[in-house]
Amino acid sequence: MSISDATQCATDLRRHMWMAGVETELRRLIWQIAITGKYISAKIHEANRKFAGFRNIFGEEQLALDRTADEILKAQLQFSGFVREYASEEQDSVIVIGKGDEQYFITADPLDGSSLVDTNLSIGTIIGIHSSPVLNEGRKTLVAAMYITYGPLITMVYSAGKGSHEFVLNREGEYVLAQENIVMDDRGSIYSLGGLRKEWLPEHLAYVEFLESSGYKLRYSGGFVPDINQILIKKGGIFSYPALKKSPSGKLRLIFELQPMAYILEQAGGMATDGSRDILDIKATDLDHRSPVYIGSRFEIQKAREFLKA
Ligand code: AHG
Ligand code: MN
Ligand code: MN
Repeated sequence: MSISDATQCATDLRRHMWMAGVETELRRLIWQIAITGKYISAKIHEANRKFAGFRNIFGEEQLALDRTADEILKAQLQFSGFVREYASEEQDSVIVIGKGDEQYFITADPLDGSSLVDTNLSIGTIIGIHSSPVLNEGRKTLVAAMYITYGPLITMVYSAGKGSHEFVLNREGEYVLAQENIVMDDRGSIYSLGGLRKEWLPEHLAYVEFLESSGYKLRYSGGFVPDINQILIKKGGIFSYPALKKSPSGKLRLIFELQPMAYILEQAGGMATDGSRDILDIKATDLDHRSPVYIGSRFEIQKAREFLKA
């Protein structure tokens, strides 16, 4: 379905979730977060214009975009009436932003890949929506997850436990359905690898050599959101930020980055592991809990487990 066709049918996000039987408050919360992506995107473009030589002549402290995105998101959620606690990569602790009786607990990576802003590469926002406090196993607490990709188009992928679906923000500022119930193939043909090669452990290197001898093509931008989005939309492949010699837990954060993406990819028939356990079965011990990750289509994940067990 081309974007213009999608615009014509204008199956907007709210209607899609209503037809999918998503719970009312959760529908409103997902929609509210999706709309917040427009404000964050505007800030990215504003900052980019500043990067483009029009430095802020008033010498104001140009808030790092990460913190700006976090403030925008927190403010939107604070008054939504649906969110009890807000945990963000930009905050030191979980913040109680509700009155104490709200249904949902949010994890946010408000801006992932912000170091890429000045290169004009795509970056994103990653959100986990939980029904109970977030320091737990994702499989027990997550009820929805979503990410927004700020690229040539602004796209949003969400799952509320009934498949994973992609929307595109149109000229009128409405999210229109691009594809629903995305189902990944059993295997793909791209691999996306973080960390320095000289830092990789032998079993990871053996796995990578298997992928390379099988003809996989390298696709790595350094932005977790577009790197994962590519694997989902191409319906196959593998992303890994592995355990490294100097950092056995890898780099990526379990609750802010890995759990939401694992939830979305599992809903699309994919898998996500730390090399032995499912990402969603790992109990988050603290906000900064990091984990190695292998996430993508089934064949590549099962192969990763074999190599890492060896
Ligand atoms: P963030 O900008 O939220 O800190 O995340 C950056 C992460 C993630 O986007 C990406 O996969 C990873 O950093 C890239 O790390 P390297 O620069 O080590 O490749
Ligand atoms: Mn991040
Ligand atoms: Mn971030």
